[in-house]
Amino acid sequence: MSDAPTARTIDPDEISGRDRYQLLTSLVVPRPIGWISTWGVNDEPNLAPFSYFNALASTPMLVGVSIGHRSSGPKDTLVNIRDRRAFCVNIVTEPFLNAMNSTSADVAPGIDEFGLAGLEPVPCKRVSAPFVHGCPAVMECELQQEVSLGDAPNTLMIGRVVVLHLDPSLEAVAGTSAIDPEALRPVGRLWGASYATLGTVISVPRPE
Ligand SMILES: Cc1cc2nc3c(=O)[nH]c(=O)nc-3n(C[C@H](O)[C@H](O)[C@H](O)COP(=O)(O)O)c2cc1C
Repeated sequence: MSDAPTARTIDPDEISGRDRYQLLTSLVVPRPIGWISTWGVNDEPNLAPFSYFNALASTPMLVGVSIGHRSSGPKDTLVNIRDRRAFCVNIVTEPFLNAMNSTSADVAPGIDEFGLAGLEPVPCKRVSAPFVHGCPAVMECELQQEVSLGDAPNTLMIGRVVVLHLDPSLEAVAGTSAIDPEALRPVGRLWGASYATLGTVISVPRPE
């Protein structure tokens, strides 16, 4: 007879919203962080991190960000993307960790969040959004689709990448277009205030 402890079985509908959030965000880890920049209501640059973020397709190149609602109304990022039908994704790398965190503060609309974080906005080439000066990897996105997530107080915004800006220091893996993760030094989100940097990179070839 096995003396292994019995697994905990959890019905997410029977626990609190706080518990659901803590469980999901500590199990789906590490999550990439989309650091999303937009122009705001007064043409001010707005910037905030979102870890309900991922790549969705490569042809066309699509990314998605799921934006929660505050009890007071939609977050500025959602309002701004709807307004301009555009946003920019700045990839969060180790040197930008603290700046990224500072832009998660709940700041009133109309305030320049780049300035608060000591960052400089650069106007995008193709879309109506700014990006973070010095960020080594940036994707300019046109809004392709807005998806309401049913009962969830979240809205999924799907963006089509129309331009990428890549710092020359981001070397590609030899013989490919893939960016070498050791050059990128991305930061992933765990739960709460915990983050992960790149650990040991291992290579596992796919079966024939
Ligand atoms: C690392 C990190 C990840 C976050 N991920 C999300 C997310 O996926 N969805 C969300 O609604 N808020 C997320 N937040 C909180 C937003 O960044 C925060 O609400 C921010 O103030 C929104 O700014 P805005 O009103 O300018 O859009 C995250 C915060 C941090 C620090």
